[in-house]
Amino acid sequence: NTERKLADGSTISDLIDLERREVQLRTLADREIYEIEQDKIFGKTWLLLGHESEIPDDGNFIQRFMGDDSVIVARHKGEVFVSLNVCPHRGMKITTQDAGSTSIHKCIYHGWAFRSNGEFLGSPVADQCMHGKIRGKDELGLQQARVTLYGGLIFATWNIDGPSFEDFLGDAKWYYDMLFCRSDGGMVVAGPPQRFVVRANWKAAGEQSAADGFHTLMLHRWLGEVGNYKKDDGESGDLTPEMFGAEVSSPHGHALRCIDLNRKIRRLTGKDPEELSVEEKLRVLPPPGMTADAFTQLKKNLSPEQLEAMAWMPPQVGGMFPNVLFGFVYIPQADGSVVGSMTLHAYVPKGPDKLEFINWIFVEKDTPPELREKMVMQTIQLFGTSGMVEQDDSDTWPHMTLTAKGPQGRHSTMKYQAIYETGKPEGWPGPGIVNEGFTKDDTQWHWWKYWHALMTAE
Ligand code: FES
Ligand code: FE
Repeated sequence: NTERKLADGSTISDLIDLERREVQLRTLADREIYEIEQDKIFGKTWLLLGHESEIPDDGNFIQRFMGDDSVIVARHKGEVFVSLNVCPHRGMKITTQDAGSTSIHKCIYHGWAFRSNGEFLGSPVADQCMHGKIRGKDELGLQQARVTLYGGLIFATWNIDGPSFEDFLGDAKWYYDMLFCRSDGGMVVAGPPQRFVVRANWKAAGEQSAADGFHTLMLHRWLGEVGNYKKDDGESGDLTPEMFGAEVSSPHGHALRCIDLNRKIRRLTGKDPEELSVEEKLRVLPPPGMTADAFTQLKKNLSPEQLEAMAWMPPQVGGMFPNVLFGFVYIPQADGSVVGSMTLHAYVPKGPDKLEFINWIFVEKDTPPELREKMVMQTIQLFGTSGMVEQDDSDTWPHMTLTAKGPQGRHSTMKYQAIYETGKPEGWPGPGIVNEGFTKDDTQWHWWKYWHALMTAE
């Protein structure tokens, strides 16, 4: 075994028992593992940095992080560039602002200046200083990440010659397209993202995002006891039926939970959903941010199979490896209607026991103002900083990170034996590794297997 040794003589492969499907808890708190992740995970995969509607005009920029590296995400001549926020002169951070607009980024230390695309522009006393004498001007620009835009979402990677973003998504793209690429106008952010720090390892949040629906019935149990989901069911407040659906796993650690809408459609129409056409269902219960008349857009942008899945069991919660969660959910309201919510989170590592939770709230560009307001209110209530649901989650992750530090606790394991491999629901129109039924460990175990594959790759 040529695998690199950790300080205690063990290897990454010792942390994960592929036969028993267990992961050592210390994986969630160890500084050495964190350092390796910076290189093997955050240095290699595609990372979500934001949405192009955050920087609509030339010169607009935001500061974001790719692992521990700060980057400037800026628009230049219409295109989006991601530059390492490190001055090539002596390593000063170039921008310290979270967001802004400028055509020239000037380092406050000695004044080297760069364009929004990272190109070196010049320095004070340039002739005596650098270019032309020591090195060519074109060698002094800011290091560039490889960038791709997908549904307006900005992804970047340092893996310049690595897999394309499409290959990285694989079969999961069919499902993500249903969320991010379904409308003519596209999604837009409903303001700058919420950001807050949670004292937890990024993987506690990351692996949960790989479609752990199981915790909903326990940790978020109040949803069915005091919330509108109780009304959704008629009377019982039993959330269990809400958990059924098709679960999509990915060899690249992505995961989607496609949750059955039939109960909602039955309540809204008083009819058996089997008797309704795909179009009728999508007009009664359009995707979040869309209205009944948006069906023509859906039909234009999605395949008949995608429409069928959208009307039956659309992707509602899940994640994109390594650190993204999406929630495109249909939330029952007190008056019996349904309001959608569209959020994306990134759990940005800030050391082995700290993460920054970034919460973007989206609407469709064409979402009518009244619906837009309802969606934003709904999302703020349930998700992010003030969100009732995610206050539950951000309470568990720090405790897991703390137990992972205990001299005994660190040798405990996280267990993923509930693998069912039930196969696709009958008639399921979508591709990929799909398993029918109630939530289980399949998707999360795929997440850990990919983590292991990357961490042990040459
Ligand atoms: Fe930036 Fe010197 S460190 S100009
Ligand atoms: Fe949760």
